[in-house]
Amino acid sequence: MQQTVRVALLGLGTVGRGVYRILTGNAENIAHKVGAPVEISRILVRDLTRDRGIPLDPALLTDNYQDILDDPEIAIVVEVMGGIHPALDYVMAALKRGKSVVTANKDMIALHGKELFAAAAASGAGLLFEGSVAGGIPIIRPLKQCLAANRIQEIMGIINGTTNYMLSKMTQEGVDFDRALREAQARGYAEADPTADVEGLDAARKLAILASIAFNSRITLNDVYVEGISKITARDIAYARELNYVIKLLAIAKETPGGIEVRVHPTMISQDHPLASVNDVFNAIFVRGDAVGDTMFYGRGAGELPTGSAVAADIMDAARHILHKVPGFIGCTCYEEKPIKPMAMTESKFYIRLMVADRPGVLAAIAYAFGDKEVSLASVIQKHTDGDRAEIVMVTHRVREQNLQDALRLVECLSSVDRIASCIRVEGE
Ligand code: NAP
Ligand code: HSE
Repeated sequence: MQQTVRVALLGLGTVGRGVYRILTGNAENIAHKVGAPVEISRILVRDLTRDRGIPLDPALLTDNYQDILDDPEIAIVVEVMGGIHPALDYVMAALKRGKSVVTANKDMIALHGKELFAAAAASGAGLLFEGSVAGGIPIIRPLKQCLAANRIQEIMGIINGTTNYMLSKMTQEGVDFDRALREAQARGYAEADPTADVEGLDAARKLAILASIAFNSRITLNDVYVEGISKITARDIAYARELNYVIKLLAIAKETPGGIEVRVHPTMISQDHPLASVNDVFNAIFVRGDAVGDTMFYGRGAGELPTGSAVAADIMDAARHILHKVPGFIGCTCYEEKPIKPMAMTESKFYIRLMVADRPGVLAAIAYAFGDKEVSLASVIQKHTDGDRAEIVMVTHRVREQNLQDALRLVECLSSVDRIASCIRVEGE
């Protein structure tokens, strides 16, 4: 066995604890695979007194980052604190000192990946971030290495564990939105501010990371069209079931002749679709490459040990490079600059639920408005009626987003239409 590879953790919350448990619990196995023991030397936290619920030597804890930065023995800094500041400053400082960094922080990678990769390349350090997307599922390394010879054509997946857990509970057990969110938070799946999960931002950040790697072109959060699940109602879930669909928060990225399409939104998919049976905190990512064809990656998308598993594997990878003095960490792969396709130019089928007056001519007026904007209706069902108000559920054929939005503006202005209660894209058919 060679010298010990020393690691510092920045953060000992959900993910930090998972990494700690894996590196200590599987230490012997890890040492054999790396070729040397991998040891946690310091752990940065805010609160030195809190009970961490794990067997821990308190001398490992510090609330001063300088103790870690200035320690020449520490070769790998593992950032599992989250947020942008001070995480970015700490990571940047570590890379500049030539320390390799492992992080699970998608916010930071999605926003500052470019400058971080430049700093890593300048010092020869590694920057690894497998845990930042889809928790325990290997997806960054497969895209950067195993599928590197392909031109990736499409990525479609469920990449937020919190919302998938919530939608599963709402669909299967009729649990209401707030309770489903509280349960996801209690299990350690949600971000510090769960709005990022619920409103689709967490998935959008992950999609920006995946699409940048897949299409070799930097895609930022601003490029991603984002809609969350906060408007999904029990009614839509029930109608989806009647129509043989389930509702999932999907992240979709495609390379098309009109540019790269990147979007996150609630989506109805057929109950037979492979992603329809991905429930609970599980994530799944479908990747289509020109050589490999269709591949699918599946596993737990959040939580202590699953995310810890991805982070620990990155630590082992960095440790091997350091031990064997191997340069050539895989850095930034964004060597092209591809245009982004405007959302208005994308195409989908749509499920639309309208609250309307129940009187003759209403359906004809609505159908005319859709027809006027070249939106073709595949099915129209009149649901509940209480005498003078009714609910109409319709599904369109595939149509350009711009046409659909134009048609909805016309429909909204009809005196017989009280409101457009929902509009959900339908995919994967
Ligand atoms: P968490 O449970 O809130 O833990 C954060 C930890 O960082 C805490 O130990 C906290 O210290 C420490 N910390 C925060 N700010 C600090 C500061 N300024 N100085 C020193 N220590 C600080 O967060 P988490 O769920 O583990 O998530 C960590 C990161 O992993 C985030 O980027 C998140 O997006 C990502 N991630 C999370 C999951 C998941 O399932 N939770 C999955 C994949 C990726 P104290 O304990 O003393 O407060
Ligand atoms: N909050 C994230 C999720 C954690 O629910 O997927 C994993 O990145």
